[in-house]
Amino acid sequence: MENKDQKLIPPPYEPTLRMIAMPKDTNANGNIFGGWLVSLMDMAAGSAAWRRANGPAVTVAIEKMEFHQPVFVGDEVSCYTHIERVGKTSLTIKVESWVRKRFSATNWVKVTQGTFIFVAIDENHKPRLIPAETE
Ligand SMILES: CC(C)(COP(=O)(O)OP(=O)(O)OC[C@H]1O[C@@H](n2cnc3c(N)ncnc32)[C@H](O)[C@@H]1OP(=O)(O)O)[C@@H](O)C(=O)NCCC(=O)NCCS
Repeated sequence: MENKDQKLIPPPYEPTLRMIAMPKDTNANGNIFGGWLVSLMDMAAGSAAWRRANGPAVTVAIEKMEFHQPVFVGDEVSCYTHIERVGKTSLTIKVESWVRKRFSATNWVKVTQGTFIFVAIDENHKPRLIPAETE
């Protein structure tokens, strides 16, 4: 079924991870804790990285992290990823988080964006060459 609101997500981005913000994820102000969102984005980027690297990859840097709008308990947070660059052993992955308000089917808001750099690692936790794309 077509969801016209999904068209707000830039086309190269893929839906990667979705989670509901819960009371345990709040900060002292009652809003959702920024660290929780970064963790979610890191997991989404990791999922994209492991898939492209065909095995383990670890976060080496997070760049250009931006928080545009607050997130509240009950919001449905969706992380979209786009592999921007594939290096020798590293991957640069752009992540955007969008929120759907709890009681709305159509109200989508972009809440965060960031660039996550992952390095593929071998069994000794050393950088490993990223294989050529197979698909
Ligand atoms: C990731 C890790 C294995 C890299 O080891 P390293 O010896 O520093 O690696 P190198 O210097 O050979 O760099 C490997 C690649 O990462 C890139 N890179 C390293 N540090 C970077 C940084 N701060 N920003 C952007 N890219 C970086 C390099 O450019 C290189 O890319 P390329 O091979 O595609 O050209 C090592 O730093 C590590 O284990 N870090 C901890 C990772 C971790 O535990 N993350 C979880 C979060 S707590």
